[in-house]
Amino acid sequence: MIEPVSLQQVDRTYVRFRGRKLSFFSGCDYFRMASHPTVLRAVSSGLARYGLNVAASRMTTGNHALYRQLERQLARFFGVEDALLISTGYLTNLVVAQALAGRFTHALLDEKAHVCLRDAAVFLGCRLRSFKHRNPADLARQIKRCGTDSRLILLTDGMYAGQGTAAPLADYLKILPQDAILLVDDAHGAAVLGATGKGTPEFVRAARHRIIQTTTLSKGFGVYGGVVLCSRALRGEIMTQSPAFVGSTPLPLPLVNAALAALALHRRHPALRTRLYQNTERVKSALAATGVSLTEAPGPIVQIIPSDARQATRLRHALLAAAIYPPFLRYPGGPPNGSFRFVISSEHTPAQLERLIAVLCRVCSAPQGSDLSARQRSRKPGPRPPRGRRSRR
Ligand SMILES: Cc1ncc(COP(=O)(O)O)c(C=O)c1O
Repeated sequence: MIEPVSLQQVDRTYVRFRGRKLSFFSGCDYFRMASHPTVLRAVSSGLARYGLNVAASRMTTGNHALYRQLERQLARFFGVEDALLISTGYLTNLVVAQALAGRFTHALLDEKAHVCLRDAAVFLGCRLRSFKHRNPADLARQIKRCGTDSRLILLTDGMYAGQGTAAPLADYLKILPQDAILLVDDAHGAAVLGATGKGTPEFVRAARHRIIQTTTLSKGFGVYGGVVLCSRALRGEIMTQSPAFVGSTPLPLPLVNAALAALALHRRHPALRTRLYQNTERVKSALAATGVSLTEAPGPIVQIIPSDARQATRLRHALLAAAIYPPFLRYPGGPPNGSFRFVISSEHTPAQLERLIAVLCRVCSAPQGSDLSARQRSRKPGPRPPRGRRSRR
């Protein structure tokens, strides 16, 4: 096992790496909320006012009015009946599965769903069937195999982290039986996708009443913790029937205070999302103009898959020479030999974006010995869908 290098954040869009200050196009802090002065002040004032830790389950002596305040505000922001805070995003799906255990005959799982959904499925206590990634036609085939009296739940990410693609939730809803439920892990889509930041369901215009949307507070909100966006009834069921919820300590209160501040910033400044999309559009359209074609995706992510180790090294060197940290990753469900995952934020400066564009256009669109895989080079550039429009696969 090679442990990844430690990075030291310098300011909102730079890191220190081997003694150099480099532009940082990675991670999942899409709005750099984790270093926003208002959010940081909320951590300090929360610590001074509430202390660090309630030191008990919410179902015993660890409940606090601040939890409910954040839940109500999250429910309003996402346009759902209610919300329940969970100590991490990973656990959100697990507590939902524990609460719903025994209700379904089959769980249908996107083959590239995040590992936490696969873990959560174990707690549903039903048969598990995978379907091809973002593929409604294969989903239809798998549904048929489940039989006519099956009771189904579908598990999928909302926005996929690797490429920023959106799950075709509206298509899934059309195919699934009327009583089927969708559990959508929108860790990356929440606050990022959709005209008002409600996430993937809003972006793909999927009716919400059969969707349980889960998300993390560590990405679009830059803080920490998880939230289940659901009906009041399901909230109550999780609180009473999920051993993981009942038996664990909730979020530290300074983080709840910080999440309230981050949420308020999103509500007051929709321009943050506009800027994220303008920055993303700038990079993606420049790459398309020089023949670097990317998977059509609404998210602020550019994935470059090198064809071999030598080509990965060339791109890495070119990035370092331009003072950009090379975000080469291997991640479950991603390309087996790894890929560069560039994440555009609302806070990168025009100069940083232009520098990234210059390197990627120079290295990745070169016809000979390009750093892109042949598959990526040959794809036709296509217009990216504007916010709020349904994604096409
Ligand atoms: C799709 C997805 N779901 C869940 C998680 C876990 O969220 P958290 O880090 O808040 O536990 C992650 C990654 O962090 C993720 O990418």
